[in-house]
Amino acid sequence: MTDEIKKGLLGIVVDETTISQVMPEINSLTYRGYAVQDLCEMCSFEEVAYLILNGNLPNGIQLNKFKKEEKENRNITTNMREIIKHIPKKAHPMDVSRTIVSVMGLEDKDTSDNSPKANMRKIMKIFAKTPTAIAAFFRIRKGKKIIKPKKELSFSENFFYMCFGKIPQKEIVKAFDVSLILYAEHSFNVSTFTARTITSSLSDIYSAITGAIASLKGPLHGGANEEVMNMMKKIKTPNKAKSWLIDNLNKKQVVMGFGHRVYKSGDSRVPTMKKYFLKVSKLKKDKNLYKISEIIEKEMIEKKNIHPNLDFPTGPTYHLMGFDTDFFTPIFVIARITGWSAHIIEQYASNKLIRPLSKYKGSDHRKVVLLNQR
Ligand code: SDX
Repeated sequence: MTDEIKKGLLGIVVDETTISQVMPEINSLTYRGYAVQDLCEMCSFEEVAYLILNGNLPNGIQLNKFKKEEKENRNITTNMREIIKHIPKKAHPMDVSRTIVSVMGLEDKDTSDNSPKANMRKIMKIFAKTPTAIAAFFRIRKGKKIIKPKKELSFSENFFYMCFGKIPQKEIVKAFDVSLILYAEHSFNVSTFTARTITSSLSDIYSAITGAIASLKGPLHGGANEEVMNMMKKIKTPNKAKSWLIDNLNKKQVVMGFGHRVYKSGDSRVPTMKKYFLKVSKLKKDKNLYKISEIIEKEMIEKKNIHPNLDFPTGPTYHLMGFDTDFFTPIFVIARITGWSAHIIEQYASNKLIRPLSKYKGSDHRKVVLLNQR
């Protein structure tokens, strides 16, 4: 037993996993052995969700069954809709996201049944209903009526439909699908490790996903995509980008959307997402954000040798798609539910209570003195 402290568990291997890995030989993130770039170009998000949850890519019959179950679970209860209508409009959508998953746990008779079959039923409910509930708050907050999900639409088409009442052109839907594939899973990141830690006490999956959402909200993690957009709104134009960055670095400010605990020479997901960020910029005839991002990236690499992470291209892409900035991380949630769920299943299957040690540096032993003598 070592008492050397590794703050933030830096470099510490705490368990094994079969779900994903950044493979050095191809310098890419892989899900169940498949490179994410190939999955983005050749598969739908539904296929990748199946892969992450079940371990293999589905054949036609398996995919149709999976999509049918997801579509049949999309509706939220009247009770949930009423709760969403009464949530304060100023509530942060990430706080709403963790609340709706908690409410689902209150409504589900299976909540305390941790058997593999019950867990998969619950996973499909969380996977299918969370987008519906998030879209409901997106509408309610704008004083608009909730739009019910449509079974005939794909996962991504349906999210646009429930938010905006219409489906964008297929290239935009594809870019959104790619962002969900890239966001879906990333081994023992802090929100996934939170989910595994909660699971390790044999608590239930609703509790584990609620905790994971709470962790993802933080700006050092999933909340960064929202902060990237806030940064770009401050910069406004490409000719202000370089001076803004230098000023920020001189103030020792963290630049959101850059750096990563695992990737130290570039996040393997970024080139693919940048490609779709550019595509969406061209389709929307607005390359301002893309030009700003190119300057910031160039300067960060030149001055700090720090590379962008996935949140950097994804934030402005969601802005161009029409989503409110504080809804960017909830979109990360609806993708990452797949990865979190796969890790929760893996933790249950080979569980050991997660309980690290700490090095005490407080007071020596001392006697209690009664209040009237203190
Ligand atoms: C995600 O883990 C995952 O896989 C996460 C994720 C996933 O898919 O689940 O990939 C998603 O969370 C991506 C990260 C999103 N967060 C941000 O973009 C926030 C900005 N990034 C930084 O806060 C930082 O890079 C972290 C937190 C992401 C990683 O930091 P580490 O590994 O703890 O390293 P560190 O903070 O100790 O930084 C090392 C050095 C420091 O300089 P010194 O103090 O040694 O002089 O690099 C500097 C840092 O100041 N640095 C930055 C920086 N990131 C690191 N300086 C300015 N801006 C940055 N973004």
